[in-house]
Amino acid sequence: MQALTTYHTQNKERYLNELLELLRIPSVSADPAFKEDVKKTGEWVAASLKKAGAENVEVCETAGHPIVYADKIIDPKLPTVLVYGHYDVQPPDPIDLWDSPAFEPVIKKTTNHPEGAIYARGACDDKGQAFMHIKAFEAMLANDSLPCNVKFMIEGEEEVGSMNLGPFCEENKERLACDVILVSDTSIISNDCPSITVGLRGLSYIEVEVTGANRDLHSGVYGGAVANPINVLCDMIASMHDENKHITIPEFYDDVEVVSTAERTEMNKAPFSLDNYKSDLAINDIHGEKGYTTLERTSIRPTLDVNGIWGGYIGEGAKTVLPSKAYAKISMRLVPNQDPDKIVDLFTKYFESIAPDSVQVAVHPHHGGEPAVTPTDTPEYKAAHKAMEATFGKAPIPVRSGGSIPIIALFEKVLGVKTVLMGFGLDSDAIHSPNEHYGLFNFYKGIETIPYFYQYYSELKK
Ligand code: BES
Ligand code: MN
Ligand code: MN
Repeated sequence: MQALTTYHTQNKERYLNELLELLRIPSVSADPAFKEDVKKTGEWVAASLKKAGAENVEVCETAGHPIVYADKIIDPKLPTVLVYGHYDVQPPDPIDLWDSPAFEPVIKKTTNHPEGAIYARGACDDKGQAFMHIKAFEAMLANDSLPCNVKFMIEGEEEVGSMNLGPFCEENKERLACDVILVSDTSIISNDCPSITVGLRGLSYIEVEVTGANRDLHSGVYGGAVANPINVLCDMIASMHDENKHITIPEFYDDVEVVSTAERTEMNKAPFSLDNYKSDLAINDIHGEKGYTTLERTSIRPTLDVNGIWGGYIGEGAKTVLPSKAYAKISMRLVPNQDPDKIVDLFTKYFESIAPDSVQVAVHPHHGGEPAVTPTDTPEYKAAHKAMEATFGKAPIPVRSGGSIPIIALFEKVLGVKTVLMGFGLDSDAIHSPNEHYGLFNFYKGIETIPYFYQYYSELKK
């Protein structure tokens, strides 16, 4: 490891400059206008893997954005780690709220990152974290210290639901065969309290359309006598939570896995300051399901949230109008045992049943994904634990995260392989928000930790 430390120190600047180059390509997977840039990013990732010493590098075309594959098989008898990550990013909107342009990375110091952080869309989610793996791999190869086989699968559609990754895995079972999947696309509690993610929530995502009259109407001439679809939609959405912030959709909680009191007690031992949480978000009070703590509400409990709502007049000044249509995008985060398709059905049935006769409703499901839990009694968890302990000087604690990476459940189903979620971001890194950033400390700590993972994993698998 001494040789690696020296190598990292000598190449630190270059690692960073390369990441900045990657961050300058706007790989927004959701917007067709960026299709060429997404492709360019995939090619950049492939070239970077090749330069690092990977073999069989391929930019695999799909019906959507390409998947980058590469590997380095040093000995078929040794264990194989498959690194998964994504090079696509969320749209930068709302762009006005960025302090510097989303695709022109700059380094600035913050309270959480006194050593500085890289500000750019994708800095943390997930270009910065995926790139750590390429650099760690490069360093291990350059120093002849790769202890096992490595495969890379870096996709370009994670932020839009990984539609083509499932079929790709089905078609490439042989090529993707491995002992474990290693992913850095999650967070740690803080830079002095490392953690390993052991659970992800699932997701059901739905768009609804509420129609009133056959055309927009004068809100004075008709207002009060004809249903306003925006008012109706607001009522319907409001009625989907009761006074205890319980979701009112019948059978919604039927399959929710009940977490034991012992496990809940353990979970709540994780360091968490409600005061810091509130002051970080500039809120006077928190909100959520009665009977659960903030840590529980964001990990072991399902949610229903409106992500966007629109209709009527939103231009300059005031226009008096009774709109014909109202829309909303609604997501439900799911926990183990809940089935995304079943939840979509329950939502649809309920939404249709509570619509008054004065309007018509249409429900359009989007992508979804299954929740995942990863065990802690495996060689990969133990290896990640030891690796983080070695580099942070502190044992990491297992934490269930509120976010979703739908493909993790699929990996287990299709490839029959478990995943270890060894991420290095912070929840405060503003992923998906304006001013997303990734700490330099976290970037370098990740690069330093990954080789330890390979080392310990290979030893534990012997
Ligand atoms: N990396 C995130 C998921 C994440 C973030 C997990 C932080 C744990 C902690 C991932 O890129 C993501 O944003 N996933 C989406 C789901 C996807 C289907 C769009 C999400 O969670 O909203
Ligand atoms: Mn991600
Ligand atoms: Mn994301």
